[in-house]
Amino acid sequence: MFLKFNRNNKLPNILSQFEQKSVDLKGFSFQLRRAHVADIDMLVNIEEAVYAGTAPWLLRDFLSELSRPNVRLYLVVERNGQVIGFAGVAYQRDQRDMHITNIAIVPVWQNKGLGTLIINELLDFSRQLGVDTMSLEARASNRSAIVLYTRLGFQQSGIKKGYYIGDHEDAISMVNNLDSKTRNN
Ligand SMILES: CC(C)(COP(=O)(O)OP(=O)(O)OC[C@H]1O[C@@H](n2cnc3c(N)ncnc32)[C@H](O)[C@@H]1OP(=O)(O)O)[C@@H](O)C(=O)NCCC(=O)NCCS
Repeated sequence: MFLKFNRNNKLPNILSQFEQKSVDLKGFSFQLRRAHVADIDMLVNIEEAVYAGTAPWLLRDFLSELSRPNVRLYLVVERNGQVIGFAGVAYQRDQRDMHITNIAIVPVWQNKGLGTLIINELLDFSRQLGVDTMSLEARASNRSAIVLYTRLGFQQSGIKKGYYIGDHEDAISMVNNLDSKTRNN
């Protein structure tokens, strides 16, 4: 068992203690581990492949996130040494919440359960830490992501009008109360 909070809701340097693991899914094996600065080029490539040239995050965004290991946890999924997806959370101390900042799986590996796998790992780890909630935003038009999050126990908690820079699309805010021990697959 890991941490628990101190009186100031501060996490000790615990997010860095996520342990690498091997996972078998439908006959394929994958490695799940923390992202490192050396992965950034691959993470940028994944963003470009997923968002077809309109990647929301650039190299500097990943660098900034990975420079804050006390309050950020980024996981990558690897297949044969190649990073094929990632997801990250930011710890929001005031709300005792883990906020999903970004998640993407390379197109050829989508719809094979990897998004489910990586979110479930982040949910399990956050529960072990004693965090109260996990939250996220999704584009209102991203129905498949919203369906996936709902299946994983997230509920809609609000709408942020015109949230996204550029096209001003609305964001759907979602939250998962982590008190339940149930893991949804
Ligand atoms: C959203 C995203 C991260 C989900 O990752 P994923 O690996 O495709 O997710 P999963 O495979 O776990 O689940 C997605 C779908 O596959 C299905 N699925 C889940 N496990 C499966 C399995 N073992 N075999 C086949 N299908 C499966 C689910 O039913 C789900 O279908 P649905 O959305 O029609 O209900 C990925 O699609 C992605 O990178 N999208 C582009 C970026 C993006 O939209 N990010 C989210 C921003 S909020």
